[in-house]
Amino acid sequence: MKVAIDHLVERLDGLAPSTALVLGSGLGGLVDKVEDAVRISYADLPGFPRSGVSGHAGEVVAGRLGGAPVLMLSGRAHYYEHGDAAAMRPALETLAGIGITRLLLTNAAGSVDPAMGPGSVMLITDHINFSGTNPLIGEPSDRRFVGLTEAYDAGLRASIERAAEATGTALHKGVYMWFSGPCFETPAEIRMARIMGANAVGMSTVPEVILARFLGLKVAACSVITNLAAGMTGAELSHQETKDMAPLGGARLANVLRRAFQDGLTEN
Ligand code: HPA
Repeated sequence: MKVAIDHLVERLDGLAPSTALVLGSGLGGLVDKVEDAVRISYADLPGFPRSGVSGHAGEVVAGRLGGAPVLMLSGRAHYYEHGDAAAMRPALETLAGIGITRLLLTNAAGSVDPAMGPGSVMLITDHINFSGTNPLIGEPSDRRFVGLTEAYDAGLRASIERAAEATGTALHKGVYMWFSGPCFETPAEIRMARIMGANAVGMSTVPEVILARFLGLKVAACSVITNLAAGMTGAELSHQETKDMAPLGGARLANVLRRAFQDGLTEN
């Protein structure tokens, strides 16, 4: 950890961002909007993931977004890659170690709501961990008993809502349900998810939210909807569809996030 922290601090050369962004599918283009960008490969940062999922790069990009200091994680590890729900822990601990206090996460997700179609953007208000696992299993200290009542910070959420309004972007709000993946859900699972109160389903983000709260970071998260979930259209789902459709909502969300940085993010 110390090696990664020292290396990052040295490469950032005085830039001290307090907000980090995790870029999911479709958000990769946001790194091109970073001014005076410093790019650091995950390979140079011990503990950072070696992401093997197509559509995900593996680098830290730091600089300014809308004039405000930012650090982006382009590429994440997913639970389904190696069965390790805590795969992002060293990377998130490193960010906390360099002074990051706020984490904004993005992902691609399937929609459970016919009125929230592909290309939509959803602000996550809460989550359901349906994976059967938890990134804090094995953590020996009592700090493992993390409260998640306010997992998604009300102040950061309000900042994102204001930025959506200012950019004229429709912003849905809802509950994200974490499935382990890597296969997509069945139509029966999607009917269940809807009954249980989910608005979107996906294979990431929740373990990172739990780890970030464990580390004391304030969190906000948004989904870009790439498809209506299994059984809702009759069509089979595919990773290709996720990759093809993510840039649509991704461009909208990138616009909102840039505006949020420009106007200033405030947390509760
Ligand atoms: N299910 C799970 N994860 C996803 C989906 C989906 O329908 N679409 C994009 N990521």
